[in-house]
Amino acid sequence: MRQLIVGNWKMHGLQAQLAEISAILAAVKHLPLQADVLICPPATLIAQAVVIVEGLIAIGGQDCHTDVDGPFTGDISAVMMKDAGASAVIVGHSERRQHHGETDAVVAKKATAAWNAGLLSIICIGENASQRRDGEAFEVCAAQIVGSVPLGSTAFSVAVAYEPHWAIGSGQSADNDDIAAMIAYVRQTLMKFLGAEGIKVRILYGGSVTASNAADILALAGVGGALVGGASLAAEDFARISRAALAPT
Ligand code: PGA
Repeated sequence: MRQLIVGNWKMHGLQAQLAEISAILAAVKHLPLQADVLICPPATLIAQAVVIVEGLIAIGGQDCHTDVDGPFTGDISAVMMKDAGASAVIVGHSERRQHHGETDAVVAKKATAAWNAGLLSIICIGENASQRRDGEAFEVCAAQIVGSVPLGSTAFSVAVAYEPHWAIGSGQSADNDDIAAMIAYVRQTLMKFLGAEGIKVRILYGGSVTASNAADILALAGVGGALVGGASLAAEDFARISRAALAPT
């Protein structure tokens, strides 16, 4: 599989920021891009972003509801995102788990809803600082995988993003050795849980990925891409990160 570079804009982005998407497209358009590139702007910008990217960059959502439709004021379903032109959706981001109380079971339902709608889901997992300090990082991530990844998932329906909470937005990415160790562990867990398909599911790293550290992180064994927050808001940085992806092996 090609590496997958995902830009997560979070709750940033007005109409004016669509110009960044045009600039990213301009920066990568004439290159033989080695990676799949996906930008997840706020839902309000999805339909316009889809028009801008000319099919060369994928556009996704940042969350979806577990149901297709219904009396859920303010929520957006995976089917609606697909209808707006999205091809993927992030689910179970630690900010959703933390601020909206999303459990693994809810995340699994969201990933299933995305799958049914024909969207790739980027399922986020990761330990917090005290869990890392207490030596619980591996077991926390394993439990999140088993709880959040729908059984029967394939490399075309899901990617898993390992994002240690303390690395998100802190300017301090995890150590390369720790990233490599966790990616290998996530791979083993996925293989136990999904069988042969678990070998192919892309495992992304996220947490303070920047234009300066992306090449080193993307070159680590087993890393299938990056989930990028802050650095995805500036076209030049995100284009550099996208160009740092490795050729598929
Ligand atoms: P960051 O965010 O790159 O700003 O650390 C990553 C994320 O939250 O997905």
